[in-house]
Amino acid sequence: MGKRLEGKVIVITGGASGLGNATAKEGAKLALIDLKEDALEQAKQEISAKYPEAQVLTIASDVSDEAAVKRYVEETVKSFDRIDGFYNNAGIEGKQALIPDYDVQVFKKVIDINLMGVYYGMRYIIPVMKNQQYGRIVNTASVGGIRGVLNQVPYVASKHAVSGMTKNAALEFGRYGIITNAIAPGAILTPMVAGAFKQVNPEDPKKAEAEYAQNNPTKRLGLPDEVAKLVVFLLSEDCSYVNGQTIAIDGGESNAYGIV
Ligand SMILES: NC(=O)c1ccc[n+]([C@@H]2O[C@H](COP(=O)([O-])OP(=O)(O)OC[C@H]3O[C@@H](n4cnc5c(N)ncnc54)[C@H](O)[C@@H]3O)[C@@H](O)[C@H]2O)c1
Repeated sequence: MGKRLEGKVIVITGGASGLGNATAKEGAKLALIDLKEDALEQAKQEISAKYPEAQVLTIASDVSDEAAVKRYVEETVKSFDRIDGFYNNAGIEGKQALIPDYDVQVFKKVIDINLMGVYYGMRYIIPVMKNQQYGRIVNTASVGGIRGVLNQVPYVASKHAVSGMTKNAALEFGRYGIITNAIAPGAILTPMVAGAFKQVNPEDPKKAEAEYAQNNPTKRLGLPDEVAKLVVFLLSEDCSYVNGQTIAIDGGESNAYGIV
């Protein structure tokens, strides 16, 4: 199939994670944005070791800080001249509590990062893409952006907002060659999720994982690589007429009514 992102400049927030590998493999120039310099440096070293020809820029920024977002966009354009793709992905889960008990400060923090962070990113990257008359945006929603999730009210609110903003970006900027979609991952086996199973059953985390997976039609969790393949497509020129969609990547679980 060739390298679908060859020569493309791709910005990834929450980029100290696995997706950088997939995009580097596709020949992209990467700007990785995350909170911590050391995690970014490690991600850069891992990518560079695997793909010595990859160009990787790292910028430590908090996506909920508007001035910092403006800066990471300016720095990326200064280094690479343009931005072809934006994986607007940084997000947090918050704590677990019922609506009346939810800590208001945590609620606001989840909204600041998951909603305002995604908005600020589009606010400053869309004008760059409009000038180029080309761009691809992938916002990370969640199954919590299309369904309710017990005990996670701000997460669900913020991810529904991500889905809504995705529709607006598609409507407002499709005419300038900017295609915007969102992904809605189900449970994906990231180190964070694997850690949660370790807490549920320290003796046998795989058993806890298997029990959890019983609710999924595929009887397993998703893998980061499977999400990366979808994101790479959505960031590529091949994605030219899918616009404004929130695409579930969850093994089909969100279609279920009752036990599967
Ligand atoms: N893993 C899953 O099962 C799953 C399911 C649905 C949705 N998601 C969403 O996918 C995205 C990535 O999640 P993940 O599972 O890779 O989690 P993760 O915690 O491994 O990665 C998130 C990254 O975002 C960074 N980040 C957090 N707050 C930030 C901020 N204010 N500014 C900049 N960077 C910040 C973190 O440092 C981290 O590197 C999130 O938006 C999450 O809500 C994940």
